[in-house]
Amino acid sequence: MSRYIKLGVNIDHVATLRNARGGNYPNVVQSAKVAEQSGADSITVHIREDRRHINETDLENLLDTINVPLNLEIAAKEETVAIALKNQPKSVCFVPENRQEITTEGGLDVKKNFNHLKQMIDPMLKTDIKISLFIDPSEEQLYATKDLGVNTIELHTGAYANAFEKNIDLEFELNRLQSSAMLAEDLSLNCHAGHGLNFENVVSIAKIKNILELNIGHFIIADSIFNGLQNSIQKMKNIINEASK
Ligand code: PXP
Repeated sequence: MSRYIKLGVNIDHVATLRNARGGNYPNVVQSAKVAEQSGADSITVHIREDRRHINETDLENLLDTINVPLNLEIAAKEETVAIALKNQPKSVCFVPENRQEITTEGGLDVKKNFNHLKQMIDPMLKTDIKISLFIDPSEEQLYATKDLGVNTIELHTGAYANAFEKNIDLEFELNRLQSSAMLAEDLSLNCHAGHGLNFENVVSIAKIKNILELNIGHFIIADSIFNGLQNSIQKMKNIINEASK
């Protein structure tokens, strides 16, 4: 049976490039509009504590302009939870955050931080915002997510992407993602995935049954330097659609 996997385009690195010179070029909202017109099913942005890319003005401008849903990634901190509650994006993905990291290096430890996450998430569970947790493909994290009352996970594909690049432990990492996606189905958790995906490594991920959405950022923005944002997004969508048939 043919199925459709949604593509969320993460435009954080358009803002990284803009911030390199402090002006307003490339324009973040314009990139979101191009992404939308090229078939992005949602736009994802991550407001980091250090605001290294997206800031609150970007978030407000995006929410005023785009027609597809906005997925906001935040750390489970009072400041960012307040921003989410104030702006009411369609969905919020909670991610771990560490000031020194170059990117989100691993998933949330939901089990260890259960009480803190509960405190941060509970007010949002009472709103219309859809919540997901960015977790490593591990059974205990899926069970902890379920216990928290959250019904969507985003599986961190970073370890798989590294394994793919180095051709080490590839089967092991892919198996972990496949079995976590199966467990998600058993637990009635919606299953998304993302991080480090590109035209090649996305194929095996898009073949995993039960994955509903992929969030892809760095590769698409980087590839667009050579091919244009519209072409990069359309090519990614075609590859995902073909693989998920
Ligand atoms: N999903 C989540 C939760 C993320 O934090 C990120 C990175 O910001 C991505 C997906 C996209 O990762 P990448 O930029 O490597 O495609």
